Amino acid sequence: MRHIVLRTALACAAWWGLAGCGRTVPADGELAVIPQPASVGLAEGSFLLSARSPIVVGMEGAEPVARALDQVGEALFGRPLRRADSPAAGAVVLRRDTALAGEAYALTVSPEGIDIAAGSPAGAFYAVQTLRQLLPPEAFGAGDVRRAEIPCLTIVDEPCMRYRGVMLDAARHFFTVDEVKRLLDILALHKINTFHWHLTDDQGWRIEIRKYPRLTEFGSVRTRTLIGRDPGGEYDETCRFDETPYGGFYTQQEIRDVVAYAAERFITVIPEIEFPGHAVSALASYPWLGCTGEQYEVRQTWDIDDRVYCPGKETTFEFIENVLAEVAELFPGPYVHIGGDECPMTYWKGCPHCRARMRSEGLTHWRQLQNYSTARLERFLNARGKQLIGWDEILEGEVTPTATIMSWRGTEGGIRAARQGNYAIMSPGTYCYFDHAQAVGEGEPLSWGGYLPVDKVYAFDPCAGLTPGERRFILGVQANLWTEYIADFDHLQYMLLPRLSALVETAWSLDRKDWEDYRRRVDRLRRLYDACGYNYARHLWAE
Ligand code: ACM
Ligand code: ZN
Repeated sequence: MRHIVLRTALACAAWWGLAGCGRTVPADGELAVIPQPASVGLAEGSFLLSARSPIVVGMEGAEPVARALDQVGEALFGRPLRRADSPAAGAVVLRRDTALAGEAYALTVSPEGIDIAAGSPAGAFYAVQTLRQLLPPEAFGAGDVRRAEIPCLTIVDEPCMRYRGVMLDAARHFFTVDEVKRLLDILALHKINTFHWHLTDDQGWRIEIRKYPRLTEFGSVRTRTLIGRDPGGEYDETCRFDETPYGGFYTQQEIRDVVAYAAERFITVIPEIEFPGHAVSALASYPWLGCTGEQYEVRQTWDIDDRVYCPGKETTFEFIENVLAEVAELFPGPYVHIGGDECPMTYWKGCPHCRARMRSEGLTHWRQLQNYSTARLERFLNARGKQLIGWDEILEGEVTPTATIMSWRGTEGGIRAARQGNYAIMSPGTYCYFDHAQAVGEGEPLSWGGYLPVDKVYAFDPCAGLTPGERRFILGVQANLWTEYIADFDHLQYMLLPRLSALVETAWSLDRKDWEDYRRRVDRLRRLYDACGYNYARHLWAE
């Protein structure tokens, strides 16, 4: 069903409800939702949401949606909304509509109440996120509002892309469970449905693995951290280090807690365990995992490292499969990401075990040794009901038809994957790397990589160059927050916002993007960021 999209400001919304005591916060006259809904039909009048508005949960599995509405109640009125068994005047009704697809919803606000129909609880949850943006932003966090006005309208909406992701690198810098949950709250507001958690890298191992305690006892701590710009391998006395030992990891109980918190927000968590590269923290913990058996330190600087897992030894596979077995148990989602990026083969070439593996498997190119390893891990994961994702390097040589490719070195990897029938997620550095600077000038924090302003993020077309048949294989898009130079949660939010609001229009509203209109709408979203206490690049609105 297509509706006409009304983008006019909501002029002269009727405002009534001054009767009674307490503060009534009027609608501000502007209709501005991000990501842009598929259709918006405005109607006359408005509805006044109050602490007395009951929620009617008429849909199985929608309790998390009711709890999301409770949080709206707490932010506005200082208390959750109450429940009712049947629709009554002024109620917020959640109900299933089988005509709507999985993540689709229809939100109708009338003077009598709010009706949320959805194909699944996830769709109803997205309707609540839209509702949050229809409420007066200033009312959020007040906690003492008596009534908040919402304009009457009907929104029918669904995402263009089924995968809408954000990756957090918790290895280069560690973020606490509480911070990860606050990040998940931000993702939920933007209708992101996947949280990719980068849990291991050269500079720290961040997930408890019961079978291998040294990974966290030893591999989670580096003795110092490079804080100046990385000169690319030539380290001398001009490099500045923070000499404080740096560490942190998540216990399995904490992982389960985060996964449950995400599920409550209809966000699937994808764990990433890097293999065979980006492995120094593992090799430092168990030196027999490397080709030479040398004892290393957990890495203190950035960039690519030659010291990688030895795929020649069976003990390496026994290790990584035991790790993945615990990981597969902890994360109920369908995917496990095994990294696969930036794996130099320097050590393999001089290793008798790797050379023997090449001979015994009939491999003729060194890259095939990585292909062999990836395919072996994929079989292991598939046997546990999981699908493998890897960065686009796993396409080099040969990849199985069932691996999912995360395209980061441009979109070429994703295009190649789609053309050969592999599913792909587009996350190219040029449009999706939020560790890059979003502005230039004094006061901008040190950042990794290039320059990625918000208008460039907005301009991203993940399906450019693909036929309609090939586009079917592009699952969606993802923003990546690598954290070499992002050491705290305030800075993390600054790098994420507002760019996430631009990227999510590509994921959710690809067929209706409009930069000028987005600029108008993002100004209202900013007021909600303010009310929620989010840190964002405020000066981008100053022009
Ligand atoms: C990557 O940025 N190395 C995936
Ligand atoms: Zn080796």
